[in-house]
Amino acid sequence: MISSKNRGMGLVVLSFMLLFSTLAPGGGQPDGEKIEARINQLLAKMTVEEKVGQMTQLTIQAVAKQQGTIDQPFLLDEKKLRDVLTNYHIGSMLNVYDKALSVEEWQTLITKIQDIATKETRLKIPVLYGIDAIHGANYTAEATLFPQNLAMAATFNRDLVKKSAEITALEMRASGIPWNFNPVLGVGRNPVWPRLFETFGEDPYTVGVLGEAYVLGTQGEDGNYGDPLRGAACMKHYLGYPVPLSGKDRTPAWIPERMLRDIFLPPFKKAVEAGVGTVMVNSGDINGIPSHSDHYLLTRILREELGFDGLVVSDWADINNLYTRDKVAASRREAVKMAVLAGIDMSMVPFDIGFYDELLALVKAGEVPIARIDEAVARILRVKFRANLFEKPYPDPKLKKMVGTPESAATSLEAARQAMTLLKNEGNLLPLDQDSDILLCGPTADLLMVFNGGWSYTWQGNMEGLYPEQKMTLLEAMQDKLGPGRVTYLPGTSYDQAIDIAAAAEAAQGKDVAVIALGEYPYCETPGNINDLTLPAVQLDLVKAVQATGTPVVLVLLQGRPRIITPVVAESEAILMAYLPGNEGGKAIVEVLFGETNPGGRLPVTYPAYPNALTNYDAKWVETDDPNKMSVMWPFGHGLSYTTFAYSGLTVQRKNLSLNPEVEVRVTVTNTGQRAGREIVHLYLSDVVRSVSPQVKQLRGFESLFLKPGESRTVSFTLTQPDFLFHDRHNQPVVEAGQFVLSVGNLESGFELSE
Ligand code: BGC
Repeated sequence: MISSKNRGMGLVVLSFMLLFSTLAPGGGQPDGEKIEARINQLLAKMTVEEKVGQMTQLTIQAVAKQQGTIDQPFLLDEKKLRDVLTNYHIGSMLNVYDKALSVEEWQTLITKIQDIATKETRLKIPVLYGIDAIHGANYTAEATLFPQNLAMAATFNRDLVKKSAEITALEMRASGIPWNFNPVLGVGRNPVWPRLFETFGEDPYTVGVLGEAYVLGTQGEDGNYGDPLRGAACMKHYLGYPVPLSGKDRTPAWIPERMLRDIFLPPFKKAVEAGVGTVMVNSGDINGIPSHSDHYLLTRILREELGFDGLVVSDWADINNLYTRDKVAASRREAVKMAVLAGIDMSMVPFDIGFYDELLALVKAGEVPIARIDEAVARILRVKFRANLFEKPYPDPKLKKMVGTPESAATSLEAARQAMTLLKNEGNLLPLDQDSDILLCGPTADLLMVFNGGWSYTWQGNMEGLYPEQKMTLLEAMQDKLGPGRVTYLPGTSYDQAIDIAAAAEAAQGKDVAVIALGEYPYCETPGNINDLTLPAVQLDLVKAVQATGTPVVLVLLQGRPRIITPVVAESEAILMAYLPGNEGGKAIVEVLFGETNPGGRLPVTYPAYPNALTNYDAKWVETDDPNKMSVMWPFGHGLSYTTFAYSGLTVQRKNLSLNPEVEVRVTVTNTGQRAGREIVHLYLSDVVRSVSPQVKQLRGFESLFLKPGESRTVSFTLTQPDFLFHDRHNQPVVEAGQFVLSVGNLESGFELSE
């Protein structure tokens, strides 16, 4: 770990990175020793077939008779289910077929699965069922749907993220599901990528802090996810998934080791420190190496450096993909061998028992050592024990009444409110007067699915008929607020087709204001690939046609990524970024438009102005000046309010200015305007000169404050070694001596670290 020194600056050798690897598996966990003993007893009894079966995960679709659609229920094929559990010893299952089930349907299904697993198999090992509960328990019909992660990030509110994770875990458990394939800890640095909305944005620090909150909310502060209201979290997708060079999902990324360690690894490290139980592997290929085959990533870094002792699950079909798609394996058998030896414990196969057959043959031929199998199975059993499945494999019927409560909806609404990010408000057009004569138009004005995006009742989230009738679209929420007949509505366009642009423009004539709801229809993963980040031309045409009438325009943006709208920005008086705000989105947007809620969200990503100027806020100095300047529409952290805030009294207390620093920062924020409002304080650190060219600034602290008019609050932040760390020319973690600058609001303060 010792690296050479540059320019006479000091450096610190960071031994703390190894600390975690010294913990015994189960250490620090409730009943850790008892669990280890039971795992060993089971392992001693298990046949190779039973072990390999534990490592195999199938989708529920593999054992279904009939797919669930809008008007027909999902039907289970019990014979198939019994076959895979009793003859192939399958240890885990996932997913829905093909739409959300009601809590009762889930309870029946999980009870059936666990009945067979715990009564009809030789060793009675319960099945570990996993689900993508990405923004709430989104595969349960009655569940609470929260804003998607990108919107949650705009709140910069760790308590809200934690609370949403708690509710999600509870609502999953009510269905008998103890394992959530979330949080997404990829750092969303390519806005074209169709999974940006699943991330907490482009900043590694924010992703780390909110990811940690999500893990603690899911598993509990004490990590006891055997609690009946909690579940195991799964950090994903490890590592470097969000930056395919083309922006298209699951295509190659090129990530230098330094960037991998400085940008993409820290949130995963933080989640490991928070005790996350499981991890899912990146589906893609980094520097020519598909992550599912990468021993360096999956064993050297994850196990030996981060000290992760949990379970590694593959992503969907990705072991087989090493053979069929990536061509690094010449056969399915070679793919299985490569992935298991690289460090994958469980294969999300997901349709057949091919993985089971191949792995069994490999073990019998001595090509995969039984010690590796035992290690993987021990990790799987450990999660099952920690989730308390051996004692309580069945859903608890009593939990049903705790799903989709008004209190949970209120939390979702509060999150949506706090996410609302006001990008522009010329002449203080907003908030609108309730007596205004309003035209509402645009493709996202009268749909619920546009609030939610992918992972909503179905994988793609685009079946409007599945959304709860009692939730309000933007149009409905506006009518609800203003009274019937008070809003003129015309769609103008669909996502990419004109409908009645001329009629919408005509209707705008003489109105006090035109609210135009733009954005995207739902997508997720590869189906969300795009060739152009610019919003479809027809949507911009609609805006231009309305602008031409001279009626003031408010744009509401419902979208999972910052689609470029530059041609219509200058002539729009107000612009509200609403992201994918979840099922309470309509209400939250209307509250902001009419001033019941004062918007306080901040952009968790840079909002680009041009398709060829995609950048992130923590750029290098050379990118900040002409002729290289990356012009952006709105910077990371941007967001306006209906009130004003002033910063004062920045003090920097240098408790320790060595290379193991401790620096305490305080600043006072005052609401200097007339309305109560929320201010998100962002603290940035700049390393002035260092051996590897520094970023202009990096976020190192944030706090969300609610202040009444005239009210002041002092916030403090403590910066310690990890905040100063970067990877040097030898890719070693270091802190270098020299000048640093802290900035918050419009204030700045410098200090120096010395050896
Ligand atoms: C996605 C994962 C997800 C898995 C199971 C994959 O296609 O990449 O994020 O957890 O499917 O649904």
